Amino acid sequence: MPDSSGFLGEKRMRNNVIFKINPEKIDSKKIKIAARSIRQGKLVAFPTETVYGLGSDVFNARAVLKIFKIKGRPGNDPLIVHISEKETLFNLAKEIPEEAMKLIDEFWPGPLTVVLKKSNIVPDIVTAGLDTVAIRMPKNSIALNLIKFAGTPVAAPSANLFGRPSPTCAQHVIDDLTGKVDIILDGGRTEIGLESTVVDMTRRPFRILRPGGITMKEIRRLLGKVELNSDESDIIRSPGVLPHHYSPKAKLLLVEKGNGQINEMKRLALNFKKQGKNIGIMVTSENQNKFNGFKIQVIGSINDSRTCAFNLFSILRSFDKEKVDVIIAEGIGLRGLGLTIMDRLRKASNF
Ligand code: TXA
Ligand code: MG
Repeated sequence: MPDSSGFLGEKRMRNNVIFKINPEKIDSKKIKIAARSIRQGKLVAFPTETVYGLGSDVFNARAVLKIFKIKGRPGNDPLIVHISEKETLFNLAKEIPEEAMKLIDEFWPGPLTVVLKKSNIVPDIVTAGLDTVAIRMPKNSIALNLIKFAGTPVAAPSANLFGRPSPTCAQHVIDDLTGKVDIILDGGRTEIGLESTVVDMTRRPFRILRPGGITMKEIRRLLGKVELNSDESDIIRSPGVLPHHYSPKAKLLLVEKGNGQINEMKRLALNFKKQGKNIGIMVTSENQNKFNGFKIQVIGSINDSRTCAFNLFSILRSFDKEKVDVIIAEGIGLRGLGLTIMDRLRKASNF
């Protein structure tokens, strides 16, 4: 419950201020207050089109260190630097290949993060000591204005506790980080619901380190050959994509698409029910009526991976709120955002 309300309509909650902002009708006053906090070395949680980020001034090493501490994030997992103008890229990165500009021209602002050789001005703590830096320009008016008014690039991971599903609304940020952040900008639910696609452009062939909001097909359309992260050496290159990620507190069992998928889900559900477990079933709308008597959450239609992406993390979190012991999830096809959805589900289930 809020402790008090202030003159800008903000809510104060255990040391952090929450500003509600309508992304269609930006209130610059509130964003300017948040931007000033960034400049003062404070932490601001803000919406992007993918998920909420926890931001600080990229050049303030102490503030960046606070991000790692608050999230419980290992220091070897580098942060993405968020910018509001393309030109800033040239201050932060060097040896930028022509293909990177092609991707950027097509997908910025948007859910694309490019990994490039870093320039000297990027502090080592941001990149976890790597000689590369991950950069993106988010497509969200609140995020873009925050960065612009702050007058500095903003280093930001997703605004969740390390290992938990990324936050797709302000309440998720409050659930994980209340009392630990200075300001939370509440811009409603995030449009995409999954994180950005991270593309390593420092070696050839280029490589997708993390599938995300831009599909592999869209990237291949512009770049031709692109590899998808698979071998072990990449785990070191992009440590944040280790398993044990995106995990709800409940045990997640993912049943992959294929013959007998629904029967296998039913078998598991009945088995765990017999053991007295509290079960949650995440299912597509096409199969929702096959689990009568069970607690279900509909992720979306099999043919609508955008809606499934939008709902995924918020369903995982809502099952946790209902104290579910076991989540049985229906795997979907890899088309569109399906690949990204399955990547997150496989990691959450410790595939
Ligand atoms: O959509 C997003 O990308 C969200 C919003 C807030 O922008 N951010 C986000 O940040 O998901 P985070 O920290 O949760 O994930 C960043 C990923 C991690 O997997 C990290 O390892 C990788 O990007 N990464 C960052 N810098 C890197 C670098 N220099 N080389 C390789 N991977 C890097
Ligand atoms: Mg994250």
